[in-house]
Parts: sequence; C-alpha cells; structure tokens
Amino acid sequence: MSDLLWDKGGSGAATVDERIQRFLAGDDVLLDRALFLHDLRASRAHVAGLARIGLLDEQERAALSASLAALADEYRAGTFVLDARYEDGHSAIEVYLTAKLGEVGKKVHTGRSRNDQVLVAQRLFLRDALDGIAAHCRDAANALLDRAEADALTPMPGYTHLQRAVPSSVGLWLAGFCEAFLDDADLARSTRSWIDRSPLGTAAGYGVNLPLDRAGVARDLGFAAVQLNPLYAQNSRGKFELQALMALAQALLDVRRLAWDLSLYTSAEFAFVRLPDRYTTGSSIMPQKRNPDVVELLRASYAVVEGAMAEVQSVLGLPSGYHRDLQATKAPVLRAVERGLCALVLLPDLVRSLEFDRPRMRAAITPDLFATDRAVDLARAGVPFRDAYRQVAHELASLTMASPEESLRARVSPGAPGDLRLDELRARLTALDAALTTDSAGQRT
Ligand code: ARG
Repeated sequence: MSDLLWDKGGSGAATVDERIQRFLAGDDVLLDRALFLHDLRASRAHVAGLARIGLLDEQERAALSASLAALADEYRAGTFVLDARYEDGHSAIEVYLTAKLGEVGKKVHTGRSRNDQVLVAQRLFLRDALDGIAAHCRDAANALLDRAEADALTPMPGYTHLQRAVPSSVGLWLAGFCEAFLDDADLARSTRSWIDRSPLGTAAGYGVNLPLDRAGVARDLGFAAVQLNPLYAQNSRGKFELQALMALAQALLDVRRLAWDLSLYTSAEFAFVRLPDRYTTGSSIMPQKRNPDVVELLRASYAVVEGAMAEVQSVLGLPSGYHRDLQATKAPVLRAVERGLCALVLLPDLVRSLEFDRPRMRAAITPDLFATDRAVDLARAGVPFRDAYRQVAHELASLTMASPEESLRARVSPGAPGDLRLDELRARLTALDAALTTDSAGQRT
C-alpha cells in the first residue's frame, strides 16, 4: 500500500499517475517545512484533547505525544527530512507515527481532517509572523527615535513636490517614521488578535460526531478562543492570511518610503546622508561607484507582498468550504512573510548607521525657505494672512537669511520641529514593548 493517507487499500488502492501526482502536490511538501513544527505542536494538542474525551488511553496519549516530540527534535536536528517522499507534512506525521507506534500511530487522525490540520498550522504560523512584524516595527521605531532625539534640531530642508519648501529637521523626518512604525506595530498586534482563534476540531468543515474538547485544545495552543463555525473556519482560510499580509504591507509601505528618501538623500545631488560600506555594493563596470542596493531591495520588498496579496485574493474567488485551490495561498503567504521579515529586521542597524552631512543639509536651506515663517510672523503681528502672504511674495528676492535653528525652535505647533514631542513617542514605545512581552508570554506554551 502507498503512503497516501487516502489510499483505501484492496480494490480501492490508489492508482497513481506520476505526472498527475506531481501536479497535485506541486511544491506543497517543501512549503510545509515552514509549517511542520506548528503542525506537530497542534497534533500534540489534538492528541491530548482526544485523551481528555476518552478516545485515547493514557498509554496511547503518552506514546503519541512522545513520538510527536521526538519527530520535532529530529526535524530540528535535520535527521528527519520533509521531502517529496510524502504527499505533504500532514501525511509525513501520520506515516512517522505509524512506523514508530504501529496501530496507535493510526489513531492520531481521529476527529480531524487535513483541512483543519493545515488551517491550524497556518494560523500558528501567521500568529508568529505577526509577532515578528510587531517586534521588528518596535525595534525600528526605537532606533528611529534614538536618532531623532540625537538630531532633533539638526536642520534639513523640508520638501513638498520634491521642491525645497521650509526649514525642517532631521528630528522631524525620523520621528515621522518612528510614529509610522509604531502604528504598524499596533496594526500587526490587532491583526494578531483578530485571527487568534483556533480552527482545530472543525474537521473537513462540518464538525464530527465526537464531543471534541475544542476549547481545551485552543487553550493548549495559546489561542484566545475557538473559531466556532466549522464552515467559516474553512472560509477564513486565505481571508485571515490576506489580512496578515495587509498588516505586513503597511509596514513595508513605510519601509519603501524610507528607502526612497534614502536613495535620494544618498545621491550626489542631495548628499545629505552617507551609508556605511556594508550597505552598498560596487558596479561591475564603473570603478568609482557605490550603489545603495540594500536600500533599493528594501524598497522592492513591498512588491513581493503586494504580489502575494494579489495571488491570495485571486484564489479566494471560491464558494464555501474546502477546495484544493486553497493550497495555492500557501506559497505566496510564506514567500511574502519571509521576505517582509528579512527586510524589517535590517531597519534598526540601517537607521543607526546613517551618517548625516550636516553642513550639506544646512547649505540647502536657502533664504527663500523662510518665506512662510516670515508671512506667519506678519500674521501674528496682526496683518491678515493673505496680505502677509502677498507682501512676502513681493519681497522674495530681498529675504534675508534667518538662522535655520531659530526657525526650527520657533515652529512650536505640536509635532513640529520646535515641539517634536519625542517623549510622547517614547511613551508609546514603552507601552508597546510591555504589550508585546505580555502577548508572547501569554500565548507561547
Ligand atoms: N496541502 C493541502 C492544503 O494545503 C492539505 C489539505 C488537503 N486536504 C484535502 N482535502 N485534499 O490545502
């Protein structure tokens, strides 16, 4: 008999056409490598749940649980390799248990289907991914805030339409990204709690005729609750993945904008910022070049996630219930999460190692940039703003160079360079830090 779980043996023996099998499986079993430890963890919780309702005796439970733990160890050590010998990770688990434990091994699948098995593994994976996104965003926000504090009043031009507009500061530029990543971390956390429900025990999408202890299994796996309706559990596959990708995409949109700024600011035309050598590469033909490839690939990471979102969305045009189409959500989700986390993790060091050319930035603040300050000064003295605006417009050529630092200090509207309120960002960061510690303490077992 083959290793196919659905091979019925005897006259029902599976007929296997190589090419069809290859098409069906795709690279699913290889993708399952990223889900395998989650699958094993969920399988142990399932086994414990079966024992609690008397479907496994204590000896059986202990044997299955120990073998699942052993398989996880072998997998981590690289002595068990998940490859095309198996149809998927789920099959590999049952084949392994049956080879180790005989009859008892064949009991593991009681009351579950691969449909809820893959769901729970992906859900655990997504939860970890969102924890990772939130933690990386926190670390990025922290590095940005440190540097914003250090250069709070360092002048740099502020741009609109990519045209020099008003005197601004390095502090304002960096604090803006700090606040963005704090928001992104919040979004990752709220997305995590939105998907934090256990689909295990919904079987093929219609439940089973067993009083499964779904709540106990959910608790074991650190889920906040059970995802109740079995059909909805299936219908949420892809839907939840998409939302997690959206949280990731928000963070990567901010990465993209930061990367764009850096690729401009490191160009000779601006030359506000220099990147250390480890962030640049050389040209194969132009001996003098140092190219900001890392920054450019950071900018491109968003494209990977947007592509993955498009792929998942197109797969999701399905009626209710499980369809094998859903397997096609796996690759894009894994790819996007891998690429996104790889990008986010680089931010703190990148931010810490930016070298600012302060004289260059100061020199780019030309007298005309003080025009708005001047008009507002007149308005404060009682001239109606539109008149003040026109008056300054006519005097542009004769505007004298004020001190950029003075201009920055005078810009006291809350959040502006003279009142950046970095302490408020610091307080948000501290609260986020505490929340992330609680999240991971409460949910990891
Ligand atoms: N690899 C499959 C997937 O990702 C596992 C579930 C298979 N279920 C089935 N009914 N064929 O969807």
